[in-house]
Amino acid sequence: MIKDLIRQMTLEEKAGLCSGADYWHTKAVERLGIQAVMVTDGPHGLRKQEGEADHLGLNKSVAAVCFPTACAGASSFDEDLMHRMGRALGEECRSEHIAILLGPAVNIKRSPLCGRNFEYFSEDPYLTGKLASAQINGIQEWDVGASLKHYAANNQETNRMTCSSEVDERTLREIYLAGFEMAVKESRPWTLMCSYNKINGEYTSENKKLLTDILRREWGFEGFVMSDWGAVNDKVKGLEAGLELEMPSSNGIRDEQLVKAVREGVISEEILNQAVERILRIINRYTQVNYGEMQYDREEHHREATEMAKECAVLLKNEGALPLRRQTKVAYIGAFAKQPRYQGGGSSHIHASRVTEALEIGRDKGNDIIYAEGFPHDRDEVDQSRFEEAMKAASEAEAAVIFAGLPESFDSEGIDRKHMKLPECQNQLIELIAGVQKNTIVVLHNGSAVEMPWVDKVNAILEMYLGGQGVGEATDELLYGDANPCGRLAETFPVRLEDTPSYLNFPGDGKKVVYAEGVYVGYRYYEAKKLPVLFPFGHGLSYTEFLYQDMQVSCGHFAEGESITVTAQVTNTGKRKGKEVVQLYIGDRTKTSDRPLKELMGFVKIELEPQETITVAFDINARSLSWYNEELEDWYAATGTYEVMIAHSSADIRLEHKVEFTATKELPFSVDENTTIGVLLKNPKTLPIMRMMLSNFSGGITSGFGSSNEVLNEMTSGLPLRALFGFSKITEENMKELISALSGVAK
Ligand code: BGC
Repeated sequence: MIKDLIRQMTLEEKAGLCSGADYWHTKAVERLGIQAVMVTDGPHGLRKQEGEADHLGLNKSVAAVCFPTACAGASSFDEDLMHRMGRALGEECRSEHIAILLGPAVNIKRSPLCGRNFEYFSEDPYLTGKLASAQINGIQEWDVGASLKHYAANNQETNRMTCSSEVDERTLREIYLAGFEMAVKESRPWTLMCSYNKINGEYTSENKKLLTDILRREWGFEGFVMSDWGAVNDKVKGLEAGLELEMPSSNGIRDEQLVKAVREGVISEEILNQAVERILRIINRYTQVNYGEMQYDREEHHREATEMAKECAVLLKNEGALPLRRQTKVAYIGAFAKQPRYQGGGSSHIHASRVTEALEIGRDKGNDIIYAEGFPHDRDEVDQSRFEEAMKAASEAEAAVIFAGLPESFDSEGIDRKHMKLPECQNQLIELIAGVQKNTIVVLHNGSAVEMPWVDKVNAILEMYLGGQGVGEATDELLYGDANPCGRLAETFPVRLEDTPSYLNFPGDGKKVVYAEGVYVGYRYYEAKKLPVLFPFGHGLSYTEFLYQDMQVSCGHFAEGESITVTAQVTNTGKRKGKEVVQLYIGDRTKTSDRPLKELMGFVKIELEPQETITVAFDINARSLSWYNEELEDWYAATGTYEVMIAHSSADIRLEHKVEFTATKELPFSVDENTTIGVLLKNPKTLPIMRMMLSNFSGGITSGFGSSNEVLNEMTSGLPLRALFGFSKITEENMKELISALSGVAK
């Protein structure tokens, strides 16, 4: 049917379908009954613009529900929650006649400075991929498409439209693509949005390896790729590479270019037809299901958003001040108590249907609260009289809750932060208050990690992130113990900016940014460097306690194509009902390659009544152990020992077990004159020949250096075969025979 339609379309109509009609719509072809469909941001609520359109969230949109932003959503470590959020968004899309929601955004938090970190999930690709898949599945249950974005390696805002992310293949696959890969395979998003930037010098919008070879051939993507808004550089090259839809409209300019390119034979009409087919298939998927006129229950979605905000908050520290009792006389300090930050700036900015404020909610509940503004919510301004008023309030109360956070300009699309600090006025006042009130609690509203010079001076810290429109009510319930905190950090909070993995390489020189830290992003880096952190990845406290015991492994050894199950028992040993996030990490101990000490390969969130025990189970397969080998062009796990860790956080391993793996994949191995003796001695297949050869030539190779055996061995290891010409009496003929013998056994 679609093929018939394409046959009836003119070249102009086909080229036209490959770019937007305007900011938010695809083009209609009325004579053939092809409808225009609307796309809308995303990712944590609908920004449906009906009037003047823009992609930076400047002009107003239809009121919608603002769910927790991805930085908060990720802290839930809860696939079910992300699925629920997806379902709610899908329902809103159907009610608002939106065919595609522009999200989720799965770029990795390479640096805490990235202005859009609030829209991204994590520094970890596994967590990112799992949560994004759950959200996409939820959205698409409503026969609405998601648009997985921004593909790929778009990890900063500075020069985002022109900068090249210089990144090696292994790092790209393991860190920056793995989240996309999982989401494509596990949730089959209808569409995918390419990013603005270049990768290794080539715009992602025209990168065939990325858009076709990896995305379609390797991962099996079947939808269409759209450009980020204005990301197209060369339309024809883009189409050839696998970019189907340019957004927004190019006012006909690129349509004409495309028509001309087909007419002149620069690009085949077949490629255009294929792009049109892919777009039409998705449009059809939306239009063929008729939900009629429907209205979602906005109040119900608001309640959902509030529930979610509670599950996303992370209790970073608590020396006993929390939970508060409703009768306690408390001083609320900081303008965020009245004007919470609950979302970030830019294209994801939602016209929230309503927003709850902790101060108002607390007062409505009859809590004994004195309020002092202390500092403004949107700028760094010290006002001595406000400080004094806040200190007086804090000293007269039994506890002080300081509502701190980042002004919106610090968490925004289009701009990266320059530092990781809170406004100075906030840091100063927190120290002053902690000096007069021992029960000082800090509530944070921010989209990314901040430094906390006062961390040891306050009693408790509750990280609310940008928790969506229900954040005020959620904060109240968490502070007073009606809800039990259960979020976990999806990113490391470093002590200071200078400690971060990309510190020397962010945001690059304007043209390029070198990902020199390789796969050592986030906790992978801090652990390898043994750097102390403020709060580790996966960390989060509760008002109850959990005991981990009895780890079991279904089988202590397994091979390629097999999987094993790891189980453990978790018991709530405290007095309150609570949720625990059980994390599974794997560490490669085979010493065959340079790898992080451990990597997240599983997590599950469970709810337990006091004294209740639940058995958690994780499956592990070859991929859970693997790294990406560039020569093999595939994922690879070596034969040997791996450590399986069941943990409360990346820094708090509760149970561990070693398992043995047997590989069947073999790494490519070729021998020439430049292959080193060390490499040949390490390979069990070439070892016997090398032993024999070296015994024949012993003495000559390193004689005269007068060094110890250990040094001699090291030195010999580093010699390429060709060095034997100088250090031994090998002839050219012998060398040929040797290389051929080695190559023969190595295959
Ligand atoms: C953003 C995308 C967004 C698009 C449409 C771009 O600037 O990078 O995330 O979906 O605008 O608003």
